[in-house]
Amino acid sequence: MTAFLVRPSLLLRSCLGVCLFSLALASGVRADSVFKPLALGSSGLAGDGIALFLPAGLKPDAVQSVCLVSVPTIHGAIPPGWRDVPAFSSDGTQTRAELHVDAGTDLYGTGEVTGPLLRNGHSIELWNTDNFTYLKHGGRRLYQSHPWVLGVRADGTAFGVIFDSTWKASLSCSNNIVFTSDGPAFPVFVIERSSPAGVLRGLADLTGTMPMPPLWALGYQQCRWSYYPATRVKEIADGFRSRHIPCDVIWMDIDYMDGFRIFTFDKKGFPHPAALNAYLHRKGFHSVWMIDPGVKREPGYEVYDTGTAANVWVKTRDGHDFVGKVWPGDCVFPDFTRPGTQDWWATQYKAFLSKGVDGVWNDMNEPSVFGGPDDTMPVDNHHRGGGNLEAGPHLEYHNVYGMLMARTTRAGILDARPDKRPFVLTRSNFLGGQRYAATWTGDNASTEVCLRESIPMSLNLGLSGQPFNGPDLGGFADNATPDLWARWVGFGAFFPFCRGHAVKGSNNKEPWAFGPVVEKAARIALERRYRLLPYYYTLFHEASVDGMPVMRPLFMADPKDPSLRSEDQAFLIGSDLLVVPQWAKHPALPKGTWRQLSLVRDDLADPFQAKLLVRAGSIIPIGRVVENTNEKLLSPLTLVVCLDAAGKADGRLYEDAGNGYGYQHGDYLLTTYHAELHDGRVVVSIASATGRRERPERKAVIEVLDAKGQHIEGKVTGL
Ligand code: GLC
Repeated sequence: MTAFLVRPSLLLRSCLGVCLFSLALASGVRADSVFKPLALGSSGLAGDGIALFLPAGLKPDAVQSVCLVSVPTIHGAIPPGWRDVPAFSSDGTQTRAELHVDAGTDLYGTGEVTGPLLRNGHSIELWNTDNFTYLKHGGRRLYQSHPWVLGVRADGTAFGVIFDSTWKASLSCSNNIVFTSDGPAFPVFVIERSSPAGVLRGLADLTGTMPMPPLWALGYQQCRWSYYPATRVKEIADGFRSRHIPCDVIWMDIDYMDGFRIFTFDKKGFPHPAALNAYLHRKGFHSVWMIDPGVKREPGYEVYDTGTAANVWVKTRDGHDFVGKVWPGDCVFPDFTRPGTQDWWATQYKAFLSKGVDGVWNDMNEPSVFGGPDDTMPVDNHHRGGGNLEAGPHLEYHNVYGMLMARTTRAGILDARPDKRPFVLTRSNFLGGQRYAATWTGDNASTEVCLRESIPMSLNLGLSGQPFNGPDLGGFADNATPDLWARWVGFGAFFPFCRGHAVKGSNNKEPWAFGPVVEKAARIALERRYRLLPYYYTLFHEASVDGMPVMRPLFMADPKDPSLRSEDQAFLIGSDLLVVPQWAKHPALPKGTWRQLSLVRDDLADPFQAKLLVRAGSIIPIGRVVENTNEKLLSPLTLVVCLDAAGKADGRLYEDAGNGYGYQHGDYLLTTYHAELHDGRVVVSIASATGRRERPERKAVIEVLDAKGQHIEGKVTGL
């Protein structure tokens, strides 16, 4: 263990069975339904503080689950006094599970939702929907489904409930939690722990964690529907570099394709995709290109021909290839429940990625079908299954179509490029989908409502197992005003997934499009993010290990403090950094000492920036300002030390190659730093370190945040 001394005076600066159920049902509960109790069949402990409940007639060994990593077995009796036991019932067509909620219990999760963080009194529909600007169905159905509720009791203890069914359903959080499915009986898992964090670890045990993404995917990303042609893409890339605004990724939306045929390139606008990618790479960018599920029905088009030959398409109820309209006109849709489809889909990626494509964006995968019933395919369409999935109707598989597509995409990319970490972004997903792809929250709008709603939406996604998420920063639909865009980037720079996007026909929404004042605000906000990337990367690593969200609600700082339970303007990044958007009105902040952090010149003076606060007792590892993640971030490494009342602080830094899988074989370094005040000196030491990666020779800067928020800085080596 090495000790390093810093003098504070140095410097001041800064489912199941065959479907017997009616397929004509609309989700939701019909007023005339009479639900009769279904007896509890088996139940028991299936993990540490995890109970499994099955209604009578459902055998544990018959359970098929898409969201779980594997279906756990019952290995013990439920302890006496277990608090949350579901009551099952059925009206002959729908199946229900209901859990009583004690007064004073706050409910969260339920995935991607409009409205506030606190879900008490809210209900949602689980039916993945292409919901432009969130206006359809009162915003109660969006692009993803998470049959999951997190409950936090008045005393800070917590529980979580998984309703393990993929079928169309509704979920209401009122006095009771009521999950009503249009499908057959399903298992319910209840996780019981002493804290919300404990419950989220339990959720991760059951549904898995996000795999470690490539470092570049944590940078800022710029998108538009669409940058066209390739020269415009280069112009945008050059625009970032000439203005020294940090950016890592440029996105290619549908117009790069030849007539919206997936896996093709428009000959006029994108004649040399490999050359375009090479250009972007030379400038330190990565590229992400869109792939939708709808395949143009056109004999002679290779993707259609090979898919037809391999018989991969979703079928109608009477066994024909289903045809529905999306961007290219009449399309057929891969049936991702079939292993054979997975092999075929994976093959498509080889040639595509060989053009230097870095990441893949799966969109429209609810699936969205123009003019289809409920904007999708008929519920009695047929998915053939295979492997460990039974054959079933679309009513059963609709909600996991996007997740299965993302799973297949990821597998295809890994197959083609086994040495690199895939980056997949999906619009549609399901509980457990963090195992396959990051997500964004679909087509929001450049409005004040969407700006504010983006925080609780991302927080609840994080509380539902998906740490790698964020909104279209600045808003997708409509024109953005300079003020709105600047205020959004001021706090949006801190979302785990950080991408600006804009709908076709809207005003330009690049950071410089709104004039010098907004450009300056965007540069400051993004430079702050880039300085914090070592801290973010450490949190992404933590999320990949135990499922802890990167972006967290404030109540996680102190689950016993009732005043924090509904705070959804301010939020935490990890446990040590608090972000208060500039527009937040009287946010409820956690007790204890939090000290203001300045990261770049003018960040405290700029009117659009969020306030950043550091928890006393923590050390935050940060890097220097860079324009992209190919540059060396930790040169120097800066440790921001915020001592607690006892004069102590701790923090962690995770480092690895930033891509590839060496880290799984020991090529990483996870350092725990400790700081302590001794006789007016702050002593910073390495408390422990794991991993076989060599500690780089580098300079370290220690910045001690004092009570006035000033930085007292010292330089050392060896950290
Ligand atoms: C969908 C996506 C949006 C994309 C557009 C065109 O609306 O949600 O992000 O730009 O399709 O591909």
